[in-house]
Amino acid sequence: MNNLVLSIFPGIDIMGRAFEEEGYCVVRGPDRLWGGDIKRFHPPAGVFEGVIGGPPCQQFSALRFINKSKPMKWGNLIPEFERVVSEAQPDWFVMENIKAAPLPSVDGYKVDRTLLNNRWLGCSQNRVHRFSFGTKNGAKLVYDVALFESPEWAARVCASGSQKPGATRHEQNKLRFHGWKTAAGLRQSLILQGLPVDLLDDAPFTLKGKHGVIGNAVAMPMARVLAKAVRRATSGFTEKKEVANMNGTLIQIVETEERRGQAKWGRVDTSPTILLNAATEELGEVAHAINHEEGRDKASQEIAETIGVLSRLYNMLWAPQ
Ligand SMILES: C[S@@+](CC[C@H](N)C(=O)[O-])C[C@H]1O[C@@H](n2cnc3c(N)ncnc32)[C@H](O)[C@@H]1O
Repeated sequence: MNNLVLSIFPGIDIMGRAFEEEGYCVVRGPDRLWGGDIKRFHPPAGVFEGVIGGPPCQQFSALRFINKSKPMKWGNLIPEFERVVSEAQPDWFVMENIKAAPLPSVDGYKVDRTLLNNRWLGCSQNRVHRFSFGTKNGAKLVYDVALFESPEWAARVCASGSQKPGATRHEQNKLRFHGWKTAAGLRQSLILQGLPVDLLDDAPFTLKGKHGVIGNAVAMPMARVLAKAVRRATSGFTEKKEVANMNGTLIQIVETEERRGQAKWGRVDTSPTILLNAATEELGEVAHAINHEEGRDKASQEIAETIGVLSRLYNMLWAPQ
């Protein structure tokens, strides 16, 4: 776990921004926005702790039937997401997409899929994303959701523009109130996405382009709970590795103690009773080291010696008669 995250298909990377807030260092891969192409991108293996990304969802969107003559701009790039994960071999990955998109599948990873609605976080915008969380051990994401939904309701912010500012809930569901590419509409979209209204003031995009990148982004509140859930689900990884190392170290010390005790007392320790008494005495040494605050090293040594004696007792009981 090195806190290094690779963000692919970043767009303006609202998702990556939330991972930064969570303490990760986020490195951004190529995007068509600045002439990059995922197809030319090959990450090194074993460098990134995590890979995050939202491949374009246009091909799976219900809105694709509205203007059938419009050609698909990007096509299905989920296989590219899978390839990059496979090359990078991270500890975990998160793929963000819409509900209708296929799940990613990468050899060696189990995928936990969850749907999250921005409204479950107490925000007004109705926006659902599917997050597919891949790990080798099948860890799962648990989100911190709000107790109550917002009494305000707003339709999903779309890349094609905002809803006409001031439109009622009923009107927001009608197509003719969609696609507002105005400065006022952009301001509204930024607020609904949980972003500062001046976020793109210095960005050299057209108004249409700004609507595009904001509508394509993961809502900031969703990205925040996602990053927190990933941190929670994966922080155990380090602890588990430490426990495994600790166990390995303990086993080595105990084996040393077992050999030392056998060499020194092997001829004297001829019955289980003798070994039981020896183990009780050693346990007294553990208590002494702890009660007299002799330090962790001394207490650990006494514990290892106790287990070493018990190990010899075990061998004696199970030794072939
Ligand atoms: C859904 S958006 C990602 C939004 C981002 N996750 C966020 O939170 O802001 C998908 C991005 O994929 C980019 N894209 C499309 N085709 C691409 C390609 N061939 N290589 C790299 N990026 C591509 C688009 O330009 C777009 O910015």
